[in-house]
Amino acid sequence: MRVNGQAYRSIWLAADGVEVEIIDQTQLPFRFQVARLKRLEDAMEAISRMLVRGAPLIGATAAYGICLGLRRAAGSQALEEMARQLIGCRPTAVNLRWAVERMVRCLLPLPEEQRLAAAYREAGLICEEDVAANEAIGRHGLALVQKLWHTKQLGEPVHILTHCNAGWLATVDWGTALAPVYAAVAAGIPVHVWVDETRPRNQGASLTAWELAAAGISHHLLVDNAGGHLMQHGLVDLCIVGSDRTTAGGDVCNKIGTYLKALAARDNGVPFYVALPGSTVDWTMDDGVAEIPIEERDMDEVLRVRGEDEHGAVRTVAIAPAGTPAVNPAFDVTPARLVTGLITERGICPASRDGLAGLYPEQGQ
Ligand code: MRU
Repeated sequence: MRVNGQAYRSIWLAADGVEVEIIDQTQLPFRFQVARLKRLEDAMEAISRMLVRGAPLIGATAAYGICLGLRRAAGSQALEEMARQLIGCRPTAVNLRWAVERMVRCLLPLPEEQRLAAAYREAGLICEEDVAANEAIGRHGLALVQKLWHTKQLGEPVHILTHCNAGWLATVDWGTALAPVYAAVAAGIPVHVWVDETRPRNQGASLTAWELAAAGISHHLLVDNAGGHLMQHGLVDLCIVGSDRTTAGGDVCNKIGTYLKALAARDNGVPFYVALPGSTVDWTMDDGVAEIPIEERDMDEVLRVRGEDEHGAVRTVAIAPAGTPAVNPAFDVTPARLVTGLITERGICPASRDGLAGLYPEQGQ
């Protein structure tokens, strides 16, 4: 996607073809800053400190993390240790494990001296495949938006509510939940996006609003508690969110607060779709509430907020009495029964074992 007229992805190989560059998402929306990853440890830190975030981008960063690690040690034991450390960086987004396991499967059988070049090839492929998958998600989601548009009065936009950031910044390019938005706008369909701010880290406010503004797409930011009210008043045509892990049975884990939006959508007859690539499906799990590990993050994220003051200084301020205890589960699980459908790179399917197995027969067995 474009930033100030220049095309960017969220991760790319530096000009030396060895080191890796990312957009430091902790600096957005106030500063657009590129960070350089030189060592495995830099990739791990970028993932845990959320310079990169979003399930597919975490996976891509981990893949390049292995490349950076192999520059120092290419032995099998070292490779397995790198994989273990990377997978531990963030526990919920399954794309991380998926990408690391794919790298290890590709590299372990090779002689040590071939591993580094093969790793860069495979990490590059993971990125290209992610871009292609998200483009396809955009195409399938576009059909959905188009259908809704045809039910509207002439000139009325389709109102789409989204949670967190599942745009291009969360993937290598295009995004998952926002890919249908970008595709619809490119097809000339008027779209307006309701952007949940997404406490505690405010990825909606700082990243989704920034992305949509950069693309010139109409949107409004709202506090997380406002979505249900908008739905009751007929102001939301469709919800589309991303996913960090979807079980083989169709339960969807996504940023904390997604479940409440799905409940409100169900109560108000608003279609609730989840956009995800196949790499986000965890075929080893069925019951998301019981089985998906939910990342618990530092309570400081709840107790403090970061923003820019009137002098342009970025500051973090407390919003609760000193010493207030807080909890910070980073994700929740929306049961499959609340999900209208899954928008994948292979098409749209019901959120169910049969639905997913129909699109991914090779996994369903
Ligand atoms: O904690 P984050 O910012 O990594 O959480 C991101 C999300 O919850 C996204 O919705 C999800 O990863 C899908 S990204 C295409």
